[in-house]
Amino acid sequence: MPTINFTVDGKPVSVNADNNEELLWVLRDRLGVNSVKYGCGVGLDGVCTAIVNGQAVRTCITPVGSVAGGHVTTVAGLSDGEHLHPVQQAWVDNDVAQCGYCQAGQIMSAVALLNKNPHPNDDDIDKAMAGNLCRCGTYFRIRTAIKQVAAGKYAPGGEAKPTANTVYYAK
Ligand code: FES
Repeated sequence: MPTINFTVDGKPVSVNADNNEELLWVLRDRLGVNSVKYGCGVGLDGVCTAIVNGQAVRTCITPVGSVAGGHVTTVAGLSDGEHLHPVQQAWVDNDVAQCGYCQAGQIMSAVALLNKNPHPNDDDIDKAMAGNLCRCGTYFRIRTAIKQVAAGKYAPGGEAKPTANTVYYAK
């Protein structure tokens, strides 16, 4: 088996795996990275979404060999120490999650969208988030949270004000 090197949430990793093994299972079973979640297993619900080299990908259908030398970010890699990423904070403040099953993937798709397009319109949001299904129907709160981040609410000097339970992004 080849040795495949890449980074996960900024840390270098090295794993012996078949190039065709799905990234999801390499992360979870070989590397102990459980912040990436198992949903449908066939790339249809977006639960397993991570960001690879800037792109939101379905890790359950991504061969690990394709990420060699690359950078994988999971929801656990978004925060800066104790400071949540703006998208995470918007999710908290809007109580986006219901059962939570889909939310790691939803957040990663939202982050990938905002990294590419900091001011998405409704169509942009619909297109970017279309592959992330939510059986609880949290779509309205997801859209609200994305729009608040896009409007700068969580940027330094933005309108969001700390509360007792809120830690805002520091960068
Ligand atoms: Fe329950 Fe999305 S929050 S599936």
